[in-house]
Amino acid sequence: MQEITEVVSQMRKRTSKEPKIGLILGSGLGDLADEIQDADYIPYHALPYFPEPTVKGHVGRFVVGTLEGKEVVAMQGRYHHYEGYSLRQVAFPVDVMKALGIHYLIVTNAAGGINTSFSPGDLMLIQDHINMLGGSPLIGPDDETSGPRFPDMSSAYDRQLIQLAEEKADQLDVAVKKGVYLATPGPQYETPAEIRMMRIMGADAVGMSTVPEVIEAAHAGLRVLGISCITNMASGILDQPLSHAEVIETANKVKDHFIQLVQAVVKNI
Ligand code: HPA
Repeated sequence: MQEITEVVSQMRKRTSKEPKIGLILGSGLGDLADEIQDADYIPYHALPYFPEPTVKGHVGRFVVGTLEGKEVVAMQGRYHHYEGYSLRQVAFPVDVMKALGIHYLIVTNAAGGINTSFSPGDLMLIQDHINMLGGSPLIGPDDETSGPRFPDMSSAYDRQLIQLAEEKADQLDVAVKKGVYLATPGPQYETPAEIRMMRIMGADAVGMSTVPEVIEAAHAGLRVLGISCITNMASGILDQPLSHAEVIETANKVKDHFIQLVQAVVKNI
């Protein structure tokens, strides 16, 4: 709690805005931050307890400003477990945004499609998740001020926000799917056998992020919307290797639709 207070007091030296909506922007989807007006930029390296992100294509800063008339705080670049950060470290910025005043969190990621009715370029609204990271950001000393010891996960992804996103997607003529996101530690992509197992388990998409932040958000009582960009079909579905270049390329192709959808949701929250 003291760490959070320290970070927020540093951020308060750089912004006086009062965002109610937080955004976490995943691989190739960081351009949404460029739509934020009247922005205050707070690089992670200017903050205590914030290591420099190591992934290419992730900038590493908070952007606090106005999007569609709403004050928002966006994370342009996030932390991943595979970079060597603990799940606690990965989820810590969610607590910081909560302390800054957010009630809503919109989380985005790039993911591989497990559901064979999906295609690369599809957007998937996350209805639920499966945590295969082998841990939780909530493991450790119990801080009763920030949330319950045993938080409920039965509605971690807010049904009303999913409905709102579906409505807006429909109006924008952007096709969206819905499904279950499974998080794996990575950084290697899955084997075809792992993908067959994940399909049997009920997963529609697989990625290496989002779940720690959503667990933290559920603990903090935030209302969450999660959107995956299906950048590729998961391992073994098509007869071709997976590459990070393909992930970034597809994310870039659909980013206009993706940005429009997030903007429409933000406007109507
Ligand atoms: N697997 C895991 N993470 C991913 C994938 C994938 O196929 N695509 C984008 N992120």
